[in-house]
Amino acid sequence: EKNGYEHFMLKEIFEQTQSIKDTFRGRVVPASKELFLGGINEVIPKLVEARRILIIGCGTSWHAGMVGEYLFEEFARVPVEVEYASEFRYRNPVIYNDDIVLAISQSGETADTLAAINLAKEAGATVLGICNVVGSSIPRNTDAGVYTHAGPEIGVASTKAFTAQVTVLTMMAMLVGYRKGTLSKEEYEKHIDELACLPEKIKSILDKSEAIKELSAKYVDSTNALYLGRGYLFPVALEGALKLKEISYIHAEGYPAAEMKHGPIALIDEQMPVFVAATKDKSYEKIVSNIQEVKARKGHVIAIVTEGDTVIKGMADHVIEIPETLEALAPLLTVIPFQLISYYIAVLRGCNVDQPRNLAKSVTVE
Ligand code: F6R
Repeated sequence: EKNGYEHFMLKEIFEQTQSIKDTFRGRVVPASKELFLGGINEVIPKLVEARRILIIGCGTSWHAGMVGEYLFEEFARVPVEVEYASEFRYRNPVIYNDDIVLAISQSGETADTLAAINLAKEAGATVLGICNVVGSSIPRNTDAGVYTHAGPEIGVASTKAFTAQVTVLTMMAMLVGYRKGTLSKEEYEKHIDELACLPEKIKSILDKSEAIKELSAKYVDSTNALYLGRGYLFPVALEGALKLKEISYIHAEGYPAAEMKHGPIALIDEQMPVFVAATKDKSYEKIVSNIQEVKARKGHVIAIVTEGDTVIKGMADHVIEIPETLEALAPLLTVIPFQLISYYIAVLRGCNVDQPRNLAKSVTVE
């Protein structure tokens, strides 16, 4: 069932051209420039009126939630808190009965996430889910929700579920923003058109997998790695680091690029690969200076850049060019090279990528 791929993880990375289409199906309609999310249609008015949204998840799903925070705050101008389910549930959180609590989970069975939504329900909040496994416990315990429809994810490291979660969050934030009037018709339609272009763009990144494999080989013996990004790409840096550590056992940390000088910069030397998500957006100039700071300390910079970028190409040790997209959609493209890099490094290290040590696909105990 691996369809000729060596591992489920690789198969699932490559499936993202299709899984994202499955997430769109019947929901993104470029011809009429419309979006539909049947599962939450009835609660859209509540989302429009919401004073705040609490997003809850663990691991990769929490990273998707972080992207969701940027999306909802930008498009729908509503304050968002992103919470680790385990911390949220045990710290006597303040939950208002007009809060919207949005739980994100691939498996729909994560014990902490389930417990957190039960707490939110007791407090009278409206609880929504974004889950992949149909009929799992979380969707059964929420008021409404949206399935990601990414298809079964077998590899323990989450890949296509993440892009599907981010896609759903993007659609939700766009819908709420548009209904609310905080996202203009023009911007709304522009994002619908661009969403429809993503599968092709993902394909063009996957077409570079041989080159990505080659550069990954250079970092097989690293003992540490740093991942940097700003804005929408900060959560992608966190996700890149998590992917590398969980399957290759290389210690990796993700940071917002500007935080580097508040500590992690002390770690940089000629042994340290620094993976930077540095596509063209409003913080481009800033990330260019962060790259210079890394190079000044002899770190190795591997940068994901927008096609045609020459500035970073002149500074970085390696660049991976990806197609241009809208800033808010960039996580869906920039994460792909990070997934591939972790995969290739782990395989070259001889690791069991589909079943990394100590990890389970579904964490049903706390
Ligand atoms: C990372 C990974 C885990 C899960 C986390 C949440 O690749 O697989 O960090 O993301 O255990 O799982 P779900 O989304 O099933 O709640």
